[in-house]
Amino acid sequence: MPVAARNVSGGCRLPAELNSFVGRRHEIAEVKRLLSEARLVTLVGVGGVGKSRLALRVAFDVRRAFPDGVWLVELAALETPELLVQAVTETLEIPDRSARTPIEVLTDHLRDRHVLIVLDNCEHLLVECAAMVEALMLRSAGLHVLATSRQALGVEGEHLIPVPTLQVPEANGLRPSTEAMRQSDAVRLFAERAQVVLPGFEVTNANLDGVAGICRRLDGIPLAIELAAVWLSALSVQQLLARLDDRFRLLTRGARTALPRQQTLRALIDWSYVLCTEQERLLWHRISVFSGGLDLGTAEHVCSGDGILPGEVVDLVTGLVDKSVLTRVEQGATVRYRLLETIRQYGRDRLRESGDEAALRVRHRDWCRDLVTRAQQGWYGPDQVAWFTRLRSEHGNLRTALDFCLATPGEVESGLVIATALRFYWIAAGSLREGRIWLDRLLAADSAPTPVRARALLVNARLAALQSDFAEVAPMLEECRCLARRLDDAAVLAGATYVAGLAALIQQDPAAAVDLLDAALEGNRTVDDQMGVVNSLMYLATAHSLLGHDDQALTQFKECLAICEGRREHWFRSYTLWLFGIQMWRHGDTARAVAMEREAIRLKEPFNDRLGIALCIEALAWMAASQDAERAVVLLGASQETWRAFGGPLFGYLSGYHEAAEMVARERLGGKGFDLAFHKGTVLARTEAIAYAMGQGAMPEKPSREPSPLTRREREIAQLVAKGMSNREIAATLVIAQRTAEGHVEHILCKLGFNSRAQIAAWVGAQEDGLPGSSS
Ligand SMILES: Nc1ncnc2c1ncn2[C@@H]1O[C@H](COP(=O)(O)OP(=O)(O)OP(=O)(O)O)[C@@H](O)[C@H]1O
Ligand SMILES: [Mg+2]
Repeated sequence: MPVAARNVSGGCRLPAELNSFVGRRHEIAEVKRLLSEARLVTLVGVGGVGKSRLALRVAFDVRRAFPDGVWLVELAALETPELLVQAVTETLEIPDRSARTPIEVLTDHLRDRHVLIVLDNCEHLLVECAAMVEALMLRSAGLHVLATSRQALGVEGEHLIPVPTLQVPEANGLRPSTEAMRQSDAVRLFAERAQVVLPGFEVTNANLDGVAGICRRLDGIPLAIELAAVWLSALSVQQLLARLDDRFRLLTRGARTALPRQQTLRALIDWSYVLCTEQERLLWHRISVFSGGLDLGTAEHVCSGDGILPGEVVDLVTGLVDKSVLTRVEQGATVRYRLLETIRQYGRDRLRESGDEAALRVRHRDWCRDLVTRAQQGWYGPDQVAWFTRLRSEHGNLRTALDFCLATPGEVESGLVIATALRFYWIAAGSLREGRIWLDRLLAADSAPTPVRARALLVNARLAALQSDFAEVAPMLEECRCLARRLDDAAVLAGATYVAGLAALIQQDPAAAVDLLDAALEGNRTVDDQMGVVNSLMYLATAHSLLGHDDQALTQFKECLAICEGRREHWFRSYTLWLFGIQMWRHGDTARAVAMEREAIRLKEPFNDRLGIALCIEALAWMAASQDAERAVVLLGASQETWRAFGGPLFGYLSGYHEAAEMVARERLGGKGFDLAFHKGTVLARTEAIAYAMGQGAMPEKPSREPSPLTRREREIAQLVAKGMSNREIAATLVIAQRTAEGHVEHILCKLGFNSRAQIAAWVGAQEDGLPGSSS
């Protein structure tokens, strides 16, 4: 059963299956076969037929064939087409900080990778998905896409697989054997779900015909079967079948024709709806405005009132879970509830009909606004990580609220407040670009010269500076300053000076940075903006350090760290430790410097701050260079992947240290030794690299000889050849076409100068000890 899966090198993550998976052997085999031949396979079919479930199952099965990862991008909750590519970049955890377009970032990242991306529920973003997939496939030969959609994407080379309903026991002709009926996928799914509401339920000779009749009635649609099985808590199998017959006769006006599938499902959802109490229905409507689910507290807060008391929500939620309307998903220590897409749309339609949609969307938006405001206040303190995790779970809802603000007249200001309050979230989540997209759109939608606009401009300029997009920073700061002067807003003015100082530092002008950051520090102190003080101090100290003003740097780093420790927060502290550590090392106290970098890494882990961690690993490499050159180079290798992805010249002001470390190590190890050690670093998985940097992992196995002349894929194939597999077996194992496998084997023979598979096997055997990159 698929559980959270982590690919050795790709770092893929697929969600755990929440309940048993039934059947689909033929479809799974077919999708796998097509995936090995085509690069875009789209599973199409009506809502609830099981497209997403099938895609996930296949993705899990073929994960080993994609050494760089298998990623699931869930699109059902994404309502903003402009964020499609961004959503994929985020899922793939590409730590980009540049102002490049998202599609450039993504194509660049995928260029030479073997990756499978599952694009789940594309139907509402068909045009955008098609354009993205086309652009990506043009430039990345190793990319495969498995899409699910109610309609085809319409891209050239797309292979469509219509997902059939589950196989049901035949109704006409000869009666199939009892065993065959029992083993049909639809009957098995019904039995599985029935056991949940009626423990001990079994398909027996006595109820088999009834169960088979139900499955036939429901046309084998998995979602319909799941919804119907719930009725067994109140009805017997025969009663359930009789009721279904009645309902469907009504719908087909007595005709004996079957209902179209869409209507079958609709009828079933209608029926589940009937099964709900008045209050459960109300809750279902209200929950449908959430994207990406919600937790109980939120349901109590947003969905109560007008007929539901807050204290009643928990029972109503339980009722909806029991009826398979809500799905319960455990996320870390918390539980969230989600509606399947088809069921959410149903709720949304009903909400619209009731005339309450607008009011609910306002409540949802108000809740988001309140949440981010509290997060902003709590950010600079001991609950920072908890706030970060919370906002991450609510990212889909935040997007929906921002969308609402943009689309609804008179709501732009609220949108600006939300996007501005999220400033540290945009930075910590690596979503600089998304933050800018929202702020750009909102700022363009309303130019009223308000304090809210001034703050939004400030945040937008800051995000642009972090992306090294300086051409955009200047005009935004200019407008921000003008507005702040008119409004006499000293806090914003101090902030603008800080951003200008940060930009100067990133542009490698530490002298200008010192002047600006000094002024910003004073301004922040005057208005008592503590976060502003810490930010200014941190970079002021860095600028001093670069200018060789060691005393000032030391004093300011100490002060900055003391403030952060006093607040018991993690984010600023980790960045201060990173920079302070570098200063310590330059000053000769390497032992303390190393401890600081490691502490910074530890603090960064809960944020999954890939860039920040890479910066610390890089600093640890510089620190090791003079004493243990090999270690230094392994660390440089371990962080290089992040640099490649990150794409910007940010922190280029420290690049001199990188070059110096490289030079020293090259001298010590020689060109070959350097390459070997570097290679060892590049093949470390992320967790291994961190453990090694933290001093917990041993030096990676010493390769016994040259770095392998084979690519990672070829090494993988060589290992399968060594296991005695034929080209056909290799193709099946790796989900590639047989002729592709043949091509690889030929390359291997050619590269190694061999002419038999036995020689490849012997070579693999000899390499087994410390074969560079053999971990994949
Ligand atoms: N093979 C299966 N085994 C067990 N459960 C299944 C199977 N296929 C589908 N289901 C269940 O049926 C329901 C609908 O499936 P799924 O969400 O995959 O449908 P879908 O075609 O993706 O629908 P939509 O178009 O609304 O996204 C889910 O609860 C899912 O878990
Ligand atoms: Mg789906």
